[in-house]
Amino acid sequence: MTREQKNILSVRDMDRREIDKLLCSAAKFDRGDFTGHELDKKILAVLFFEPSTRTRMSFSAAMMRLGGKILNLGSVEATSITKGETLSDTIRVISGYADAIVLRHPKEGAARLASEVSSVPVINGGDGAGQHPSQTLLDLYTIRESMRLENIDIGLQGDLRYGRTVHSLAFALSKYNNIRIHTIAPDGLDFPNYLKEDLSETGVEIICHEKLEDILPELDVLYVTRLQRERFPDPVAFASYSANYRLTPELLQIAKPKMIVLHPLPRVGEIDPAVDSLPCAKYFEQAHNGIPIRMAMLNEVMSQ
Ligand code: NCD
Repeated sequence: MTREQKNILSVRDMDRREIDKLLCSAAKFDRGDFTGHELDKKILAVLFFEPSTRTRMSFSAAMMRLGGKILNLGSVEATSITKGETLSDTIRVISGYADAIVLRHPKEGAARLASEVSSVPVINGGDGAGQHPSQTLLDLYTIRESMRLENIDIGLQGDLRYGRTVHSLAFALSKYNNIRIHTIAPDGLDFPNYLKEDLSETGVEIICHEKLEDILPELDVLYVTRLQRERFPDPVAFASYSANYRLTPELLQIAKPKMIVLHPLPRVGEIDPAVDSLPCAKYFEQAHNGIPIRMAMLNEVMSQ
């Protein structure tokens, strides 16, 4: 009898109960409430076709903390992909070597395609400008450490056109009550229309602002992102958008005392390092929360 394969491809596929279950499970791992043998003898294949520091390393560390082992694709140049092998064939083969696959790929929809040909669960580690579910879960987890996930004003600042973390997060937030999403994007880099339409169908409120100062005093959470240079069609288009925003301690003086600042990282100038020592700066804690969240995800798809 075949058991249904548990992929984690997009928060759009998940209901609020499934998300909350993973957040609770992460809290358990965070408290140290685990044996370290949960995934003994299991192998996670780590296939990253785009650069990554946090996602790749924290999935690997999370797997090791649960007793499992890692099979790394390594550099794409050293694989048969350079000989012209398709992603489907690569996944078909690797799914015979491992118990789950975490995939990062520049093409939107790549993880879903992989899940259709894989014989083991697939976790989306980021697909182009699409989705980034593990990042979103750790974002929610970090917000939940400071406040309840309801009745929140959250500002999303930066490249909302190409940034997958904000796409993913907006859909996840739409599943919670009374959330208002405030977008502050450089001209031309707001949410794509198709996403705005899909989001408005969920009933979540989205309000656009030209300047951060216009909304900063109302926010409970400010989520800053970098311009996604690698997703711009050409360098000239990117140059015309050079980031015109930088969060500084001076600017933060008008924020609520309890507002928190998040950033998926890497940052490339959007947050002045002088902000790091302020109590509102939660982005390094956010990155560390990647471990318990990814332990929960790996345990969810591979245990039993
Ligand atoms: C993000 C990503 O890859 O989408 N990084 C991450 O996983 N923490 C954000 C980014 O690269 O800007």
